[in-house]
Amino acid sequence: METAALGDLRVCRVLNGMWQVAGGHGRIEHEKAIGEMMAYHDSGFTSWDLADIYGPAEDFIGGFRRMLAEEKGESELAKMQAFTKFVPEPARMTRAVVEQAIERSRRRMGVESIDLVQFHWWDYANPAWLDALVHLSELRDAGRVRNVGLTNFDTDHMQDMADAGIKIVSNQVQYSIIDQRPQVKMQEFCSKNNSVILAYGTVCGGLLSERYLGSPEPGNAQLDTPSLRKYKKMIDVWGGWKLFQELLAALKQVAARHNASIANVAARYILDRPAVAGVIIGARLGIAEHRHDNARIFGLKLDDEDRERIEAVTARSRNLFELIGDCGDEYRY
Ligand SMILES: NC(=O)c1ccc[n+]([C@@H]2O[C@H](COP(=O)([O-])OP(=O)(O)OC[C@H]3O[C@@H](n4cnc5c(N)ncnc54)[C@H](OP(=O)(O)O)[C@@H]3O)[C@@H](O)[C@H]2O)c1
Repeated sequence: METAALGDLRVCRVLNGMWQVAGGHGRIEHEKAIGEMMAYHDSGFTSWDLADIYGPAEDFIGGFRRMLAEEKGESELAKMQAFTKFVPEPARMTRAVVEQAIERSRRRMGVESIDLVQFHWWDYANPAWLDALVHLSELRDAGRVRNVGLTNFDTDHMQDMADAGIKIVSNQVQYSIIDQRPQVKMQEFCSKNNSVILAYGTVCGGLLSERYLGSPEPGNAQLDTPSLRKYKKMIDVWGGWKLFQELLAALKQVAARHNASIANVAARYILDRPAVAGVIIGARLGIAEHRHDNARIFGLKLDDEDRERIEAVTARSRNLFELIGDCGDEYRY
């Protein structure tokens, strides 16, 4: 396992994503899912990404922590990290509003201090995002939160935070071979400002895998998770299914050189980018698992020939930064 520094923590560089338990990704059985979390933990995948809005995800962390303490002792708890998000509706962000939300997450997750709270804001026209960050920073100083991070913020707003003296340890953004917008501005900003990127969408909901190599373009009915639908739309903007098939073929050639899978190559390519601390790979707990395959990401080393093969295809794609904007712009009202 590879680990990386994130604020005052060390995290596994492949994090387990819990949007997949929020609903719409298949029926998740609570007991089974929490049992499955132990298998991830035992395999070294000890870092979890979740959100206050991901259905039962924070409760799963609470349940899993109780199980971990019972089965392996309290000391085992120090080996895992759980990162939640604070995703409020854009409204006045008073100290009470922010504090209540954090207290709720702490209670559900069963932690004294939340390892990392990642703040999301839907509407830049409403300036209350800065108030929320001031209150989150105070809660960090009071020990209720260990680290303050962001999700889906663009570089200009991160610059505003830096100018206001707000300490941000990470920004979680979409970053994949398909969507490389973070390399335009975000990467350099994070490197210079002591912050890191957590990347999601790295395997495009599973589209970047052997399963879709050589397959006809799937319609919405075949794309049976919100994650698959989200990234299929991104592929449509990026260059369409025909070019995507060329990319999958190139990735397969690279994978074959290293006895790896397409998903391994897709994840490694992003992990090797500057400022990227980790990639978050969604886990449909109790439904499907790719632990063994994803463990191979760590041993994989891509060389120039591999990157050239991939970039011969991506060079022919459209410019998503020009079409969509900087990181997270697809989420703004
Ligand atoms: N901040 C945000 O706005 C935001 C947005 C999206 C996601 N996220 C975070 O990122 C996490 C990841 O979600 P995502 O939607 O981006 O999905 P993703 O990680 O791109 O895709 C996850 C899916 O990929 C497939 N997969 C995983 N490993 C594989 C492998 N080795 N080989 C083949 N297929 C593999 C699995 O599909 P099957 O289950 O079908 O096998 C899995 O459900 C979320 O859980 C969440 O924590 C954050």
